[in-house]
Amino acid sequence: MISPKIATSLNQQVQLEAESSQIYLAMASWAEVEGYNGIADFLFKHSDEERIHMLKLIKFINERGGHGIIPALPQPAQKYKGIRPLFEQVLNHEIHVSEEINKLVDICLKEKDYTTHNFLQWYVSEQIEEEALARRVIDKLKLIGDDKGGLYLFDRDIVTIEVSLKSEKGGRG
Ligand code: FEO
Repeated sequence: MISPKIATSLNQQVQLEAESSQIYLAMASWAEVEGYNGIADFLFKHSDEERIHMLKLIKFINERGGHGIIPALPQPAQKYKGIRPLFEQVLNHEIHVSEEINKLVDICLKEKDYTTHNFLQWYVSEQIEEEALARRVIDKLKLIGDDKGGLYLFDRDIVTIEVSLKSEKGGRG
């Protein structure tokens, strides 16, 4: 059984994961309209992953005697200044998510809730991967600079950035 304090904290994380899914969905839709189909697919997939992060939390809260609350969500931005600012926003957002996960871990230790602490370790690992992926994407974009041809190839090859990161780290799951 989780305490009301842990349930409230986990539900705040449900909201953040849901917001992440919405933000990446808005980014994906913008990228698709702008003709960046590879980047759009990458972001649509990440939006789906955030939804899975949210669902895992809801199921855990309910299994542990709490109530996973489905939050109202703010509307994300509809337009973005470019591909590099978009991915810088992704990285900043993921850093924020990591900070919130760390705060949750800290609350669990203070409350001596080792079950939830154990459950959250998956999120701790996931955040290391998500931040690394965003940094890798930004590094590539820095190399490309204003080269339109480079951006064309980046859009085509973005899927391979994630695959190569996973193979270097032996996959995740
Ligand atoms: Fe589920 Fe990207 O944080």
